Amino acid sequence: MTTTFAVVGIHGYGKQHLHQIGQLAAEGRARLVAVVDPRGTDGAAHVPPGTPAFGDLSELLAETVPDVVTFATPIHTHLPLAAQAMRAGAHVLLEKPTTASLPELRELIAVADETGKSVQVGFQSFGSHAFDRIAEITASGRIGEITGIGGIGLWRRARSYYDRSPWAGMRRLDGLEVVDGVVTNPLAHSIASALRIAGARRAEDVAEVVVDLFHANDIEADDTSAVRLRTTSGMPIALGLTLAAEEPHTTPRVFVHGTAGSIEFRYTSDVLIVRAGGGEKTEEVQRTSLFENLLDHLQHGIALLADVRDTGAFMRVLEAVRTAPDPAPIAAEHQEIVGEGPESYRVVRGVDDWCRKVSEELATFTELSAPWTAAPAAAHAPASAPQHTHGVRA
Ligand SMILES: NC(=O)c1ccc[n+]([C@@H]2O[C@H](COP(=O)([O-])OP(=O)(O)OC[C@H]3O[C@@H](n4cnc5c(N)ncnc54)[C@H](O)[C@@H]3O)[C@@H](O)[C@H]2O)c1
Repeated sequence: MTTTFAVVGIHGYGKQHLHQIGQLAAEGRARLVAVVDPRGTDGAAHVPPGTPAFGDLSELLAETVPDVVTFATPIHTHLPLAAQAMRAGAHVLLEKPTTASLPELRELIAVADETGKSVQVGFQSFGSHAFDRIAEITASGRIGEITGIGGIGLWRRARSYYDRSPWAGMRRLDGLEVVDGVVTNPLAHSIASALRIAGARRAEDVAEVVVDLFHANDIEADDTSAVRLRTTSGMPIALGLTLAAEEPHTTPRVFVHGTAGSIEFRYTSDVLIVRAGGGEKTEEVQRTSLFENLLDHLQHGIALLADVRDTGAFMRVLEAVRTAPDPAPIAAEHQEIVGEGPESYRVVRGVDDWCRKVSEELATFTELSAPWTAAPAAAHAPASAPQHTHGVRA
């Protein structure tokens, strides 16, 4: 059986969607019937020649309704576009973060319920077989009792990353929520993966979120942040994340801390490192693609790996970021600008070690007194209040 696909948003991450669909097409399982982008297909060599192209989703749906529409479009377009596709009769693969707010997520789930359509969300790490393996290792008692889950993400983004699109690095745009910061976009997978290890899937599985948001770049949103949270089951989780890293070639990783050892999960490469009993063992695990899983779901009733409903726990974190005070700037004395022009980038001094401390001590930058969290010397009170607690329920 061949499932028809259309890809909406083709000039950025949509390339990956086209690549995945191309692989499934080679196996005879999928067929690309159209692409949609207001920028057209000029310069999009990754779009197969002859693919019908439309300037917006309404034009496509007036012509044909594919079985699945995939979206790699700006965050603030996710809810309206995905809802429109479902109401027209298509299933959806929607990039993360699911929507620009928790109320929007609830609306999207309501449309999925009402139309009976499936929504897979682009948290590709959810396809990793690491989660089952981590559950096996922890159940075996090899790392003792679990004491918490940590995470570090050390990346760098150049000026050109923020200049590529009007929504990049914004919290709001033209009165719409955008929430495009390090926590909610580039390193969102690390938080989503930590939550999944803890078994937190739905919004109600998260009891408390503390966000500690800063920016080194000249942007509105955060690029250097700590997130500390507690699941309803009582698991503490904390991650230190930056796009202004000193050593940017470290793959992002999530740690399961135990009383007798630890497990490190490198979610971009599906590598697990188990440290216990004085030794260290590295394992590689497989990954199921979200596209393949969506086809298995539609054709054989297999459960979705990243069902929209199971992104609720992550969306509690996004909601905490969205409703927090604006991120505080990191003073010039704590950072360096390297290079000039579009490829110049910022580095926050010492940030790599502070992210590691967040992950190990399960505390935020402010709680740990990282240097950039101190109020400027001339001020009597902090210039801003970047640390914000959201929805304490316990
Ligand atoms: N899963 C991942 O690892 C991953 C990685 C990168 C980006 N993403 C996600 O993909 C989405 C897009 O990010 P990006 O970095 O590619 O953004 P981008 O701004 O670089 O590209 C977005 C594309 O969508 C098009 N577009 C904008 N509005 C549209 C509309 N109304 N209809 C159709 N097309 C429209 C733009 O012209 C552009 O081609 C975001 O949700 C982002 O978080 C996911």
